[in-house]
This record gives sequence, structure tokens and C-alpha cells, in this order.
Amino acid sequence: MTQKIKNICCIGAGYVGGPTMAVIAQKCPEINVTVVDINEKRIAAWNDENVENIPIYEPGLPEVVKEARGRNLFFSTEVDAAIEKAEMIFISVNTPTKTYGIGKGMAADLKWIELCARQIARVSVTDKIVVEKSTLPVRTAEALKSILENTGNGVKFQILSNPEFLAEGTAIEDLMAPDRVLIGGDIDTVEGKEAVQTLVDVYAHWVNRDNILTTNVWSSELSKLTANAFLAQRVSSINALSELCEKTGADVTEVARAIGMDSRIGSKFLKSSVGFGGSCFQKDILNLVYIAKSFGLDEVADYWEQVIIMNDHQKRRFAANIVQTLFNTVSGKKITLLGWAFKKDTNDTRESAAIAVADHLLYEQSNVVIYDPKVTSEQIYTDMVYVNSRSEEENRDLLTVAIDPYEACQNSHAIAILTEWDEFKTYDWQKIYDHMLKPAFVFDGRNILDVKKLEEIGFVVNSIGKN
Ligand code: NAD
Ligand code: UDX
Repeated sequence: MTQKIKNICCIGAGYVGGPTMAVIAQKCPEINVTVVDINEKRIAAWNDENVENIPIYEPGLPEVVKEARGRNLFFSTEVDAAIEKAEMIFISVNTPTKTYGIGKGMAADLKWIELCARQIARVSVTDKIVVEKSTLPVRTAEALKSILENTGNGVKFQILSNPEFLAEGTAIEDLMAPDRVLIGGDIDTVEGKEAVQTLVDVYAHWVNRDNILTTNVWSSELSKLTANAFLAQRVSSINALSELCEKTGADVTEVARAIGMDSRIGSKFLKSSVGFGGSCFQKDILNLVYIAKSFGLDEVADYWEQVIIMNDHQKRRFAANIVQTLFNTVSGKKITLLGWAFKKDTNDTRESAAIAVADHLLYEQSNVVIYDPKVTSEQIYTDMVYVNSRSEEENRDLLTVAIDPYEACQNSHAIAILTEWDEFKTYDWQKIYDHMLKPAFVFDGRNILDVKKLEEIGFVVNSIGKN
């Protein structure tokens, strides 16, 4: 018999916890959903009276929050209270790449996951279903189970894996109509099967049951890493070809279209770019590589590591091409970067290719000016401190954040498009050209601009994968 869930708690009010729980609350009005976080500022922003001020920019999210917040969706810093009350607890905390110790630079740092498990064990006085929503290395559920069972109060825990496949910028669409929902559980036991079914019933409020896939826990955990590795691999594959296109006169957009029409290949994730970013692809592939290596599977590890190597190369060569094209020196030259977020329709900048490009240009002593429609200047300066040894003061001297795109481009030698924001396509490019130094260069790292039109205006245009 499955359990009727009345209270859900989600630990972690980030890019996944926030939108995912908002949608569950909207679709399941009879379930109270409480999202908790230790970050007081973040929770305060989620509770901001003006729903446009929630901490994550995601199209469609304010409307969902507006409908459910205060009704059956709550944001709180009272973690213990929410855990105690819930029958089902989602763990949706960050699992970044380790920056210390064994596995540094590769393995996932499970510090926050373990803290959650210990807290759940300490606080729980009734049986709970604990759901791994964070992306975790295969067999993490085993460690969770051990902590919960050995440090708990004798209550029973069922552990499920329910990885999230939403992409930022389209999170609400992805959550409303997911290609599939994946639930892994201990399907060899009656209790395990019941727990899986209980979570299936939550999703079945709006997702067709045929699209809810149930597997054993290990398949579910590994499928998430695999999905991201496959997606990233496609981007690195087309980016590898983009360099060959530039040498041969082939056009990478035409090549992508031609191969994408083969139904066995498919057209998605074939957009050549300055390099993929985001908090997931690199971290999850490094994690996969680490796991493979730890089993002695060196060929498997090397195969997947190449996806990252190619991506780093793509970012580096984009920046190097700017320097080379600008007569081998950008020292003292104003270069405008349009876009800082790792993709359009998000204010997330984690691992954004723009960070690497800006860093390279600063080493060449360029005067870099950045404009992004959704990213704050604080965030940009914070990102720069993380990637280099310059102090924040030095970064503030060398790098300017503009609030107006036309001003950002004024007296520039070159513009580089680093995020595919739609608004860039609507700019008055003639006006921009008129106020730039000549020759005026555009480096389109996203292939979004009309090259012919720009060239007619007088720009010298460099696009990824075209010569
Ligand atoms: P995030 O950093 O935006 O959010 C994580 C939140 O967890 C933070 O606000 C942090 O303060 C909070 N937290 C950490 N430890 C806590 C604790 N002990 N108690 C309470 N709160 C705590 O991260 P995210 O982007 O939402 O990612 C979360 C997980 O989901 C990661 O494992 C990630 O790999 C996975 N994931 C992310 C995406 C994505 O698009 N961002 C997509 C799919 C899966
Ligand atoms: C990814 C996965 O798509 C999602 O399923 C998972 O849950 C989290 O990780 P996300 O990182 O939010 O989502 O965005 P995604 O659309 O996958 O883009 C990742 C990066 O690849 C971005 O920098 C994007 O610009 C780049 N990209 C994507 C390309 O360069 N070319 C493409 O064709 C597609």
C-alpha cells in the first residue's frame, strides 16, 4: 500500500530545489511543500513580496511561485522543523567538484549531502522517504543509508534516487512536461517498491505514468551522470568540428543541420559555441571520469575526459583568436563582452565560458567591458576572483560592468558575443558600429548574428566554425 504524502520538505533552495518544488506545490495543492536552506539571504529573496525579486531568474517561475507561495509552498530557514514534519524529504543541495584532498578537481564533494543525512537522522522521529534530487555519484545511496541507519533514532528510512533533468532557462517547461521522470529505489523489497510508488503518485498528478520510469537505485544514479556526459559530448563533438570548418571553408551551422536531419543523430545539442558552461556538465563528467578511474577503467575515463579537454580548448582558442585578429595585441584596447551567463534566460554564471574568455583577455592587458541583461556586477566580480590570482580591486580596475549595451560598445575595438541572449539580435548594429573604433570587429561565439548584415554595415565578423 502506498503512503499518502501530506508534507514534503526539500533541503536546498537553489536552481533545482526552488523551481522543482514550486511546480510540485502548484500541481499538488493538497501537499504542503517546504523548501529550506541555510542561506538566509536566499530564503528571504524567495519570500520577497515582489515575486520578480526571487533569487533565480527563470522564465515562468514567478507566476508559479505567485500561485502556490503561502498556500502550500513555503520557504524557510527552519530546517529541523521542516524535516520533522515531512513524510518525504528531497535533498537538493550542491554537489560541486572537490577542491581539496583525494579526488581534488574531479570527484563530487559530498560534504553537504552527508550533513543533510546526519541532520535528517538526528531530527527524525517518524519514518521518512529520503529522495536524492542532487546529482550524485553511483552508489551514494549506500552511504546515505548507512548514515541514516547508524545515527538515527531507530525510525525507518527508504532512499530513492530521483535525478533532475531540467535545464536552466527552460526549467519550468521541462518540469511541466518532462521527457521522463526517473525514480530509482530498492525494488527488491516490498517497502522499497512502496516508496517508489509513493513518489510516482506525486509526479502522476501531472506527468503521464508512461513517462515515469522506475529502476534500481544504481541505474538511476548513473543515468543522470550519463545523460549529462552524452549531452556535453555532442557539444564538444560539434565544437571540435568547428575548428576544422574554419580551416576548410565548411560552415559548422550547415554541417550541424545536415547531420542533425539524420534521425539517428537528431538535431539537438549541435550548436557550436564558445564552449559549454553551467554547473553540471563539467562537474558531472569529471565525476564520471573519477568513478571510472577508481575502478581502474582508464580507457573509459580517458574517453570521457576528452569532452572536457575539447571544451577547454574551445574557450582558449576563442580568446586567442580575438588577440590574434586584433593584430596580436589587445593591450589597452577596449573589448566588449556581450553576455556573461552560461546560456540565455538564466542569471546563473557558474562555469560560464565568458569567465575564461575575460580572464584570458585580462592577462593580455585588455580593457574589458561586460554587459549582461540579467547578471549583477557583484556576481561578475565574484566570478573573476574565483578564477585568477588578481585581487577584487585589480579586477575592478581592469574590468568594467556596463548597464547599457550601447554604452558598453562605445569606443570599443571589438565585441564578443558570449551568451545567446535574444535581445542582442534586436540591437541597432549600425548605431553600435558608428560609435566603435575602426576596423570594428565582432566575434560571435554563439552564431546568433546575421553575418551578412553586419558585414554590409562594415564590421569584420568572426563566427565560430565559419571562415
Ligand atoms: P545551488 O547551489 O543553486 O543550491 C543548493 C542550495 O543548497 C544552496 O542554496 C545551499 O545554501 C543549500 N544547502 C547546502 N547545504 C545545505 C544544508 N546542509 N542545509 C540546508 N541547505 C543547504 O545548486 P543547484 O544548482 O540547485 O544544484 C543542486 C543539485 O542539483 C546539484 O547536485 C546539481 O548537480 C543538481 N542539478 C542541478 C541542475 C541545474 O541546472 N542547476 C540540474 C540538474 C541537477
Ligand atoms: C544541463 C542538462 O541539459 C540538464 O538536463 C541537466 O539537468 C543539467 O545540465 P544546463 O546546464 O542548465 O542543463 O543547460 P544546457 O541547456 O544543457 O546547456 C549547457 C551548456 O551547453 C550551456 O553553456 C549551453 O550554452 C551549451 N550548449 C548547449 C551549446 O554550446 N550548444 C548546444 O547545442 C547546447
